[in-house]
Amino acid sequence: MLSRRHFLMSSGLLVCAPAVRAASSRYHFSLGVASGSPRASSVVLWTRLAPEPLRGGGMPTGVTTVRYRVCSEPAMRRLVQEGFVETSEAKAHSVHVKLRDLEPGREYWYQFYFGEDESPVGRTRTADPAATGAKLALASCNSYESGHFAAFADMARWAPDCVIHIGDYIYEGGPSPLGAVKRNVGGRELSFENVRQHDGPEIVTLTDYRNRYALYRSDASLQAAHAASPWIVAMDDHEIDNNWAGDVPQDPWAQNALEFKVRKLAALQAYYEHMPIEQPPELSGIDSHLQLYGAYRFGPAQVHLLDTRQYRSDQVCGQGFPGDASCPELADPALTMTGQRQERWLLDALARSSANYNVIASQTWFAPYRYNAAPEAPSVNMDQWDGYPLQRQRLIDALANGVANPVVLGGDWHCAAAMRIHQDPWDARSKRIGHNFCGTSISSHCPWWDSLNAAKAFNPHVDHVNGAQRGYLRFEVSRNDWKTDFRVVDDPRRADSAVRSELVLSTRDT
Ligand SMILES: [Fe+2]
Repeated sequence: MLSRRHFLMSSGLLVCAPAVRAASSRYHFSLGVASGSPRASSVVLWTRLAPEPLRGGGMPTGVTTVRYRVCSEPAMRRLVQEGFVETSEAKAHSVHVKLRDLEPGREYWYQFYFGEDESPVGRTRTADPAATGAKLALASCNSYESGHFAAFADMARWAPDCVIHIGDYIYEGGPSPLGAVKRNVGGRELSFENVRQHDGPEIVTLTDYRNRYALYRSDASLQAAHAASPWIVAMDDHEIDNNWAGDVPQDPWAQNALEFKVRKLAALQAYYEHMPIEQPPELSGIDSHLQLYGAYRFGPAQVHLLDTRQYRSDQVCGQGFPGDASCPELADPALTMTGQRQERWLLDALARSSANYNVIASQTWFAPYRYNAAPEAPSVNMDQWDGYPLQRQRLIDALANGVANPVVLGGDWHCAAAMRIHQDPWDARSKRIGHNFCGTSISSHCPWWDSLNAAKAFNPHVDHVNGAQRGYLRFEVSRNDWKTDFRVVDDPRRADSAVRSELVLSTRDT
């Protein structure tokens, strides 16, 4: 008997078939679709067959084939490309298709087909180095428990040319209590609200990580943001374990080096399986890494996406916040966020760039931030670039040496910020080299907001901070202006919350 899909194909009706969600509870495209790594002539498409997404996926073992089509309009009638791709349990039945021979700066729509199921239709867009403008979004820190993803729904409606996700796409912890939770922060009891819960304990195994990604990807707003735009992605810490660095977990007394390497491989594999990226993790013995850093060109902006977790030196002088910036180990020039190879790549890419705006998308805050008044030694967050001051200075020196309009992006700290980067980053009277724009979190709480806000006056290079609200950043780039739009969510307890612009800054004005 012919399936509905085969009937549609053989009858020629396929080209007119709208995207429909099968009535069966075992819908294979329960995790939606995505695209990423946009280049002038290529883009990566993604989906995963997961009829039982929260319980390992639910696909039988063995190789299976998925069909895809790419069209030049959303009704999926005018075919550009089509093909078949194989997948299996070895990659959790995830599907990665690298489309080639596309035209620059063009929108395309795509859809996957399996059995009788059709995926939602996704929209993607190739990059265009020659474009006169670009629309980019910056996102990070989407804790499933801490809030709904209204920011992603807003991002989907805006449909940027590309979403830059700089990490904390998932959180690894077990379930927290629902509703208002009290946390003791710096001796003060603060209240936060959790709107939903992780569905299992702290994740460690490959199956755990797969199920956690599936839980996050079951969110309709996150699916919509993936379906609306291509993404470029890099991990921060919570994709594996809080504040990890290189091969060092935050709690080496609780997991030995071998255990952590096995856990890291599982986390990298599951990350690959759920992201529109080209390459799976590479293994050397039990050591693994996943290639994430790279340069992307969107008209006037060249974006250098950094990976500041996989190759970084372990944090010195304590795990992070607050740390003492007079700690002598900070003077070690070998201390890096990126490892030497990635630093050389970045310096080389910046030196060769012809773009009007040169963007470094890092995970954490690049400009310094002290939580105490001078002249005491600065109290800082060692997990950010303040914990890697000599490498930061090398990058500032390189940016000052003829790189056009440097813009550094960051996140991680669940607080939006607009900061100036100066030749001496601690001296706001020294020459301004560029801007550092940091996004707040999509949903994650900011328990340190009070102390951060109270310290703003100690940081004269900081023009704006807001850790009280959730949201993301929009950038509109033209040949002679970079606009940063701080989008904030009115009520993170509501999936349908309004999202609005709190502040729009133009680099032309400063
Ligand atoms: Fe985070």
